[in-house]
Amino acid sequence: MSSQIIPVEPFDYVVFGGSGDLAERKLLPALYHRQIEGQFTEPTRIIGASRSALSNEEYRKFADAALKEHLKKGEYDDAEVKKFLARLFYVPVDARSDAGWDQLKKILDEGKDRVRAFYLAVAPGIFGDISQKIHDHKLITKQTRIVVEKPIGRDLASALQLNDTIGKVFKEEQIFRIDHYLGKETVQNLMALRFANALYEPLWNANHIDHVQITVAESVGLEGRAGYYDTAGALRDMVQNHILQLLCLTAMEIPSSMDSEAVRDEKLKVLRALKPINASNVEQATVRGQYRAGASSGGPVKGYLDELEGGVSNTETFVAIKAEIGNWRWAGVPFYIRTGKRLAGRMSEIVITFKPIPHNIFDQAAGRTVANQLIIRLQPDEGVKQSLMIKDPGPGGMRLRNVSLDMSFASAFNVRNPDAYERLLMDVIRSNQTLFMRRDEVEAAWDWVDPILKGWEEAGQQVQGYTAGTWGPSQAIALIERDGRTWHDDI
Ligand code: BG6
Repeated sequence: MSSQIIPVEPFDYVVFGGSGDLAERKLLPALYHRQIEGQFTEPTRIIGASRSALSNEEYRKFADAALKEHLKKGEYDDAEVKKFLARLFYVPVDARSDAGWDQLKKILDEGKDRVRAFYLAVAPGIFGDISQKIHDHKLITKQTRIVVEKPIGRDLASALQLNDTIGKVFKEEQIFRIDHYLGKETVQNLMALRFANALYEPLWNANHIDHVQITVAESVGLEGRAGYYDTAGALRDMVQNHILQLLCLTAMEIPSSMDSEAVRDEKLKVLRALKPINASNVEQATVRGQYRAGASSGGPVKGYLDELEGGVSNTETFVAIKAEIGNWRWAGVPFYIRTGKRLAGRMSEIVITFKPIPHNIFDQAAGRTVANQLIIRLQPDEGVKQSLMIKDPGPGGMRLRNVSLDMSFASAFNVRNPDAYERLLMDVIRSNQTLFMRRDEVEAAWDWVDPILKGWEEAGQQVQGYTAGTWGPSQAIALIERDGRTWHDDI
């Protein structure tokens, strides 16, 4: 089955931080894939910009090496790569001086009528400087958008400041705050599942759902990002953005349309309805962990503090939270969320556990009935599983068995699973903000996260050690087991 590709208008994508890690690992390979899929209309250019003094040729070499390194086997096609490299240009610019900006303007003026997107794949500390330079050098046309990567602040106050800085130069409808989790196939499928089927919606509430679990488990450690990570921790790095976005899509009311404002209005209501966790309840509702030496990804690995080279740190590499949403739909339904580095495997999923049947008519020999679960698997093996009780086939009387209706998307449709960035990069060109965070959403998320951070500080809550390669500290298991429930730990 082939998917339908709708070409986008010609564009110039200017990637600040164009020779950096994100461009290398994600942006350039994603744009290459969109070219192969036939989504570009000519003339379309990608312009790398950063402080490094590279020529066009040197940038093309960098991009070629990035594609060789990061494309999967069989995806590197000589003719396509040649075409791709020919659309790449590079301008050395300095965010804090005027160096290079005239040259960037000259290049962009060649395509005045094209869609123009500025992607800030740089440290947030220079978002403001770059926005101002873009403005001062008159690079903003009617068709201009700006894309910003997380972290958008480290608390509410800094997020407000950052949003103000960018907002001085760009209108909200030009600002695309990227959360790459929203570009993941299964995350979009969650919306299809909920809003394109009549089956689930009548059950999607506190009358029928016992609880929800959201797990984003990683087996990797710091991956050379100790400098950033140690100042952030798992709550800021994963929960404030990715996990709260997953929670919103799971819990939101049905928007009146897929219009970006309609969808984001509903997500915002969820964020605002989250019950506060602060100094008064932070110890019961949250667990912080930090990995110690152990085994992960098939070999021995160092502990977090050893990765910091003997440093001392109370930064959490794992967090588990019992969250609650104060509204009619979800009253009394806990949302258990957890995420961590160096866990037992790479696995992200949302598990909806329905309430048990109200009355069992089967005798003991039939065996136990298990509550139905809907498992939405983001990675790996994207897909949806619905567990159901059935009669064990064949003779032997009525014996019950818990089976899974399994829809593994990649194998069911035999299509390549696009990387989250592919969809999002093209949505920027199409000017579709549905899968991007609006300013008030980011701020509402911080508004919920800030008191947790403050509560930890006030309570002096220390991280609990866990062995790398496990499911986190035992306190996280206790957090859910206290309520008579267990984590869904199938990898
Ligand atoms: C990033 C975090 O936003 O998401 C990283 O900063 C994390 O720490 C990454 O590893 C996880 O993304 P994915 O797509 O690999 O699940």
